Amino acid sequence: MTTTNKSWVLVTGASSGFGEEFARQYAAQGRSLVLVARRLDRLQALADTLRRQYRIEVMVEQVDLADTAAVVQLHQRLQAQGVAVDILINNAGHGLQGPFVDRTLDETLAMVQLDVASLTAVTHVFAREMRARGSGKILLVASLLAYQGVQNFAVYAAAKAYVLRLGEALHRELKRDGITVTTLCPGMSDTGFAAAAQQKITPALKQLMMRPAPVVRAGIRALQAGRISVVAGWPNRALVILTWATPRWLHQALMSRAMNG
Ligand SMILES: NC(=O)c1ccc[n+]([C@@H]2O[C@H](COP(=O)([O-])OP(=O)(O)OC[C@H]3O[C@@H](n4cnc5c(N)ncnc54)[C@H](OP(=O)(O)O)[C@@H]3O)[C@@H](O)[C@H]2O)c1
Repeated sequence: MTTTNKSWVLVTGASSGFGEEFARQYAAQGRSLVLVARRLDRLQALADTLRRQYRIEVMVEQVDLADTAAVVQLHQRLQAQGVAVDILINNAGHGLQGPFVDRTLDETLAMVQLDVASLTAVTHVFAREMRARGSGKILLVASLLAYQGVQNFAVYAAAKAYVLRLGEALHRELKRDGITVTTLCPGMSDTGFAAAAQQKITPALKQLMMRPAPVVRAGIRALQAGRISVVAGWPNRALVILTWATPRWLHQALMSRAMNG
């Protein structure tokens, strides 16, 4: 496989949902891809389809990103093969719905490990490499819940607030190194997320539910334009404006009702 002098897109969490859709949309652009997640069978099936359909190079990397050492090893493996990642889609993550004290400490901290620590580690190792090259693009996937604390999603909303703040800061900080950082904030979308988060789909969430394709298109467009962040879909953007325009007690009560029924 010829890997040198080629531009690669790395997608974390590519085995389903947004990650799979990012892979499809970048494949349609003719990009070479590195697909990362734990479920190898799904990654391989997707890679085969994309190679056949678009005649592109696709590498599959089975990695448990919750393990920070595995993140560093992934980066080292790619470097050893001459794979320079130009576009990093830092998407892998999961949620958890339920009262804070009813969830075990282990499952709560596992979510923090993936959504916060691992996302930071992935960003760090690839941003360093991009800085050395003087170019690169990074997309961080946060959430609409990054904009406020939400009852029964306390740790997830806080973790996504971290992602949004990290992205905003890095957008400025890494600009001088030729690196663009954009944060995508999706609202409720039809992926594997709800099942993994044991999330209840309320009538309000059914109304707001988006397909992955337009969310991913919004993310790619914003990344290409070098925007600081993007909220996918106008109903979700209206909810963010509501957050800015109303007192905390009011928008938190409304969001809590929408999320928990
Ligand atoms: N869907 C929504 O409503 C929604 C809304 C706002 C934000 N988001 C965010 O969007 C991102 C993508 O989620 P999604 O909606 O596409 O859900 P999804 O369909 O469940 O996809 C999650 C992806 O993350 C991967 N992943 C989970 N744990 C991992 C680990 N330890 N190591 C490596 N990969 C791991 C999964 O792959 P494996 O299981 O194969 O490892 C899967 O590919 C997440 O950051 C989520 O918080 C989703």
